[in-house]
Amino acid sequence: MASLRKPILAANWKMNLGPTAASGFFESFLSRYAARADRTVIVFPSAIALSAARHAAQARPDIQFGVQNVHTAEKGAFTGETSVSMAHDAGAHFVLVGHSERRHVFGETDAQTAEKVSRVSVLGLAPMLCVGEKIEEREAGQTNAVVARQLRAALEGLVKQDASALAALVIAYEPVWAIGTGRTATPQDASAAHAGIRDELRSLTGAAGEAIPILYGGSVTAANASALLAAPGVDGLLVGGASLDPESWAAICSA
Ligand code: PGA
Repeated sequence: MASLRKPILAANWKMNLGPTAASGFFESFLSRYAARADRTVIVFPSAIALSAARHAAQARPDIQFGVQNVHTAEKGAFTGETSVSMAHDAGAHFVLVGHSERRHVFGETDAQTAEKVSRVSVLGLAPMLCVGEKIEEREAGQTNAVVARQLRAALEGLVKQDASALAALVIAYEPVWAIGTGRTATPQDASAAHAGIRDELRSLTGAAGEAIPILYGGSVTAANASALLAAPGVDGLLVGGASLDPESWAAICSA
């Protein structure tokens, strides 16, 4: 076992699986994956499928839920957006923040990411903060610097909140070049980046930084999940494409 932290297996469905497909997914997945006390399984459906997904998994309190994005305002004239309270009301305990598609497709800035992390945490949900470098940054040897900048910016407000805010935080290291490309980081790449993240967390948060789980994400499959999970410093996996199929997601959850 690579880590003393209980592994977290998280599924990011992105803009896939609406309410009907989400229900069908759980019918199949739950018959393939029995609850296990030694791991945490979290699913991030689209906001519109969250209630259906929760309903389909209601007999399985071991499965936790989150949303993929939130707005920082409580409510109001923000067409198309979801507030943290609404996400909570719909059963989300986790919120993905700063996913690379939010940053690079929708132009979310470090400052917006920071605001979201604080807002999620103040309202009692757990932020899962995504960080990761682009290929040109990796090739220029800037991986640790980029990730450290993203962490410092995003956690600025959080470190001023009480200790419970840090206790709920989860980090996902997702190199941009590995997301949806079939090009997975090696377990060694993941360990090296996670060590850099752990150092930065220690310097930002002190002793609390030791307990914050760091997940790896980017082209994880049923075939490579075990090796990645066994890599030193990898506390879990954040999985996109391979989490859409109940059979492969069950295999990853059992890795
Ligand atoms: P992928 O996506 O597993 O399809 O590469 C991971 C993610 O974006 O969280």
